[in-house]
Amino acid sequence: MAKIVTFDQEGAVGLICIDNPPVNAISHSVRGRLVDVITRAGKNFGIKVLLITTDAELFSAGADIAEFDHPQGEPSFAQVQTMIESSPIPVVAAIRGLALGGGLELAMACHYRLAHKNAKLGMPEITLGIIPGAGGTQRLPRLIGARAALNMILSGTPISGFDAKANGLVDEVAEDDLRGAALDFCERLVREGRGPRRTSNGTVVDGLDEANITSTLRSHARALQGRTTQHLIIEAIQASKLPWSQGIAIEAGLAQKSLASRESMALRHLFFAERESARLSGTSLNAKQMQAPRIRLAAVIGAGTMGCGIAIALADAGLEVLLNDNDPAALIRSHKSINLTYASSVRRGRVTQTVADERIRRIRNAPTLEELADADLVIEAVFEDLELKKNVVSKLDSILPPQRLIATNTSTLSVTELALATAHPERVLGLHFFVPANTSRLLEIVRTVHTSPESLSTTFGIAKLLRKVAVVSGDAFGFIGNRMMLDGYFREAEQLLLEGATPTQVDTALENFGFAMGPQRVSDLGGNDVGTKARIQLFKRDTRPDPYFVIADRLTEMGRLGQKTGRGFYRYANDSREATQDPEVNSIIEKLASERGISRREIDEQEIVERCILSLINVGAMVLEEGIAARAADIDVVWTSGYGFPRHLGGPMFYADTLGLSHVLQRIRHYHEKLGHHWRPAMLIERLASASSSFEHRDRTSASP
Ligand code: 3HC
Ligand code: NAI
Repeated sequence: MAKIVTFDQEGAVGLICIDNPPVNAISHSVRGRLVDVITRAGKNFGIKVLLITTDAELFSAGADIAEFDHPQGEPSFAQVQTMIESSPIPVVAAIRGLALGGGLELAMACHYRLAHKNAKLGMPEITLGIIPGAGGTQRLPRLIGARAALNMILSGTPISGFDAKANGLVDEVAEDDLRGAALDFCERLVREGRGPRRTSNGTVVDGLDEANITSTLRSHARALQGRTTQHLIIEAIQASKLPWSQGIAIEAGLAQKSLASRESMALRHLFFAERESARLSGTSLNAKQMQAPRIRLAAVIGAGTMGCGIAIALADAGLEVLLNDNDPAALIRSHKSINLTYASSVRRGRVTQTVADERIRRIRNAPTLEELADADLVIEAVFEDLELKKNVVSKLDSILPPQRLIATNTSTLSVTELALATAHPERVLGLHFFVPANTSRLLEIVRTVHTSPESLSTTFGIAKLLRKVAVVSGDAFGFIGNRMMLDGYFREAEQLLLEGATPTQVDTALENFGFAMGPQRVSDLGGNDVGTKARIQLFKRDTRPDPYFVIADRLTEMGRLGQKTGRGFYRYANDSREATQDPEVNSIIEKLASERGISRREIDEQEIVERCILSLINVGAMVLEEGIAARAADIDVVWTSGYGFPRHLGGPMFYADTLGLSHVLQRIRHYHEKLGHHWRPAMLIERLASASSSFEHRDRTSASP
């Protein structure tokens, strides 16, 4: 059992080890134990120096985020840090693995710091919508300068042990044995009579002026779009120029403010939602019981756009990959495309040429299905055709031993029908990758009623291996994400065009709301024909009444496929990605509207946003009540990691809770009266609103789907 914090004596060194699995979070109990052991060490006159380190893989992932909703409790972070800083004997931190947020802030309160060369030191608080509130905005500028501190805190990205040494954050880097190097360092301190060196006594050598602030904000503009935490961070760092007691008091006030912000609540919600979605609700297994899959060899059938991306994702995760296609020309093309992808990764400095070569070597051709017999997992990504896919999975079923997984990358077909085409439907499930499969974050795992808990658990292990955020979906029209996009968000966007808005108005309104790209620009990017084809398949599964994507389908008929043909909802000049308005599109829309007897009018931005987002929420609630998604938080994960919903709003269902479900229901009823059937309020919203409840409460209180 973990001891939280242990204490040993090695000669004159008092060795304090943090031992709080899984990530050494500096929880209330860790802080309490730190105070205990430091007090005890202070009474031992044989101890001349204290060393704070860990035997775990990482120093600390920071403050315990699970405690953020409650008052901090004593001893507070500040109390522990003051105790360390004011220690009469020197205190050294030795960092291995990660030192993040409060973990690094704890180390900065120590008098000296060492890091292993592979350590990573960072301040990721901004990703949670908070400022580093345990002295980070005051000590970091004193150690590395205000400008470097601003950049490090706004980026949220950790730096290496070597970079930390170069900028003054750590005193030494251990090439190999961290503990040995740290003990040597401590002995040297004692020998040389070097005492405590308090960071809070230091001064900030540089300052932030408007120009530095503007340029740093600009370099992180994409990640900070719609965000507000950065302004609090700047204010706190500027206060580091003041005397310590004033600066730290300003930081404390700003930290409280950030913690109470909606932005922080939304981002913390997503932090836990992304981890919670990896738990296997609705099965007898939980994440802890999950076997790490022993997967060495994976196979992909269909070496097209998706197959190549999936093969790269698998090779990046360290697996051997067999790639099969019944068209030899496709196999040749696929290797060209894989080489190009890796060449671009090398150019961008993401991997070295040696690593890229090694991964390319791991993707081998397997011209026949029989050659896949040894694969631990096979993912099919052949053309989207039910009979073809049934044929492929049933052949695979006869070739692979029964415990091996068979996954389909279908985005529209019934996974259940595919599973039933085999003698072992329990090992068949959907792995819905998004484009580009090697870099997109989201993976929808589609389970059928036949999928076994073991298959599901192995699949989650694979998702973790691939570093994807995985969410389980039931097997139904569009799964979670596309169902909400088609029946809700995109559908409403098209309806608004028919009623009088222009593509630019709709896109701009939703981009102002926080989406990186509005729906029409997204359609043009992916190809309007891709959407049309997917809908044709989906409507075989489940039909939808008119009007439903009449504009996108008309554009497809006209060969206005989007960026790839230079014309779609917009015009694109000579391979440019810049969308310009096209009066011809307005005429097409006007004609379609008049054919449907829709009288057009001016529509303002507020109505555009409200209708698109409320329809997304309404369909999300239906997806929940139908059991296609297990939790509202899963929907939030799908929409923030796969469809560009602004993270700082927490996802559509969290956002609905912040609006209040009574208000949401009242507005949906308003549109139902005005616009008709497709605005029928979800029963779940009616139920939750009448009980003054929320999606979050439902998640917390319902055991399984
Ligand atoms: N507090 C509480 N729990 C934490 C945590 C933290 N800081 N960091 C991770 N965890 C938990 C996760 O919830 C998860 O729990 P679960 O198994 O019950 O779901 C478990 O630790 C393992 O986490 P991951 O699944 O994320 O494991 P990975 O190995 O993939 O990643 C990690 C490890 C890189 C450390 C990642 O967890 C991470 O980025 N953590 C958050 C780091 C962070 O943001 N730190 C700043 C905290 S805020 C702060 O320090 C405020 C300070 O300024 C006062
Ligand atoms: P694609 O047309 O680029 O590639 C399909 C490949 O399958 C072709 O190379 C073809 O030769 C091969 N193939 C066909 N029949 C085969 C067989 N019997 N045996 C072996 N290989 C065979 O298609 P794409 O876009 O890669 O799509 C593949 C699958 O992924 C489809 O199910 C699609 O719905 C799904 N998907 C596609 C997305 C996209 O945006 N392209 C997104 C998510 C899923």
